[in-house]
Amino acid sequence: MDALAALSTRHSIAPPFLTGPGPDERMLTEILAAGASAPDHGRLRPWRFIVIRGEARERLGEVFAEALVKRQPDAPAEALEQERGRPLRAPVVIAVVARVDPQHPKIPEFEQVLSTGAAVENILLAAHAQGFGAKWLTGANAYDDHVKAALGLTGNDRLAGFVHLGTVDGKPPQVPHADARELTVEWRG
Ligand SMILES: Cc1cc2nc3c(=O)[nH]c(=O)nc-3n(C[C@H](O)[C@H](O)[C@H](O)COP(=O)(O)O)c2cc1C
Repeated sequence: MDALAALSTRHSIAPPFLTGPGPDERMLTEILAAGASAPDHGRLRPWRFIVIRGEARERLGEVFAEALVKRQPDAPAEALEQERGRPLRAPVVIAVVARVDPQHPKIPEFEQVLSTGAAVENILLAAHAQGFGAKWLTGANAYDDHVKAALGLTGNDRLAGFVHLGTVDGKPPQVPHADARELTVEWRG
């Protein structure tokens, strides 16, 4: 798929429309390389990628359930089950971390966060170009300290989200893209 086709035809594919197989090692390496090609002012590499697959997804589901208990000690059993099941809804989950330096003398934190968003988009596009479906998800778990600690985040690390990816199963609905013409002006001074 050429680059413009990948850009214009990418749509988020959410669970339950993601199934196995996920990308193999070579494809996953390409996907992560795309993430690491994000524009990056100052070459700070303000992103890290955490691959979660196989049984580790079950462990992450436990972490999500533990996190919910901490946030909401009286959470009903169904809600805990839902948390346990979240990472199992795709064969591969990539947690993307914004490892920002808010005190950097030259590069504002905002730019480091923007770069992380670009890394996530590159991952989504690479997965799409390989024929996989993917979706960028956050939710309460992305902002939860228990989840962050379990994934090894420290200091100012922030979770940009969890990219779920896998083989597209069925006919997922597509959210229409925005019309750029409605969002663009030409400034003539
Ligand atoms: C930072 C970020 C977090 C998101 N988190 C969620 C989420 O938790 N749940 C969700 O349904 N969509 C979430 N989305 C939106 C989807 O990833 C997706 O962009 C949206 O559904 C539009 O679909 P499209 O990518 O096909 O245009 C998030 C998007 C961004 C940029």
